[in-house]
Amino acid sequence: MRVAYIQFHPTLNNPERNRSRLEQFLTAVTADLVVMPELANAGYNFSSMQEVFSTAEDAEKGATIAMWRDIARQKRMAVVGGFAERQGDTCYNSAALIDREGNVHIYRKLHLFGEESRWFSAGDEPPPVMTLAGAQVGVFICFDWAFPEMARILALKNAEIICHPSNVVTRFPPQAMVVRGVENRVFTITANRIGREEGAAGNLYFPGTSQVTTPDGEVPARAGETGEETAVVEIQLSRAHDKRLAGYTDLFASRVPEMYTDLADHTNS
Ligand code: ACM
Repeated sequence: MRVAYIQFHPTLNNPERNRSRLEQFLTAVTADLVVMPELANAGYNFSSMQEVFSTAEDAEKGATIAMWRDIARQKRMAVVGGFAERQGDTCYNSAALIDREGNVHIYRKLHLFGEESRWFSAGDEPPPVMTLAGAQVGVFICFDWAFPEMARILALKNAEIICHPSNVVTRFPPQAMVVRGVENRVFTITANRIGREEGAAGNLYFPGTSQVTTPDGEVPARAGETGEETAVVEIQLSRAHDKRLAGYTDLFASRVPEMYTDLADHTNS
């Protein structure tokens, strides 16, 4: 199957402009599954809750989701993208997973980064795995990468691909996601934004570096730090079914979960 990322430069608090730019990219790409950055409708570095309210959108009626659904149906292309979601007076940093029939499933970011908790409530559901374009596709958003439990849970739920809409502000994730892919024997697709943004979190730089990684740690596509870019990669999904590390030992059969129970112990956090 063909998977793609779209790396682009959103404009803060300008959802109309972001929507039309994304529509151009989505119209141009030919793939079975395409991933866009975190908060792709909104930008990242807000200064007030008013800004967040004015750009965040309803997961069912919002204009960005409507455009993504239309394109998914028209092009028979599954779409995953991050967006600022509003439900009443609560906003979430969310991702939409949209299948080729236009069905939408929403994931709300669990691990909020920096100032994000001023604007967004954290989700309260585990990351999902959906069937998209015939593949088992999981998702988490940006800083969620730093919690290996997230990738492991998705892989245990049989994800073959982990989509990772991002607004990365450090240079750790490209390397970390290679490891997440290897230790779980899955493909990963990180779609990051680029550019600089001034706001409550200061002057933020987003170093692109969107990528596709394989269960063997290869990186068949990696974008630069500063340009808008789309890449399409042909992947062999069956590679994610062999859970042996480099052909030797089955990673999942080797787990000792009864030794990991402290991970779920809230008293040590
Ligand atoms: C991040 O989670 N957007 C850094």
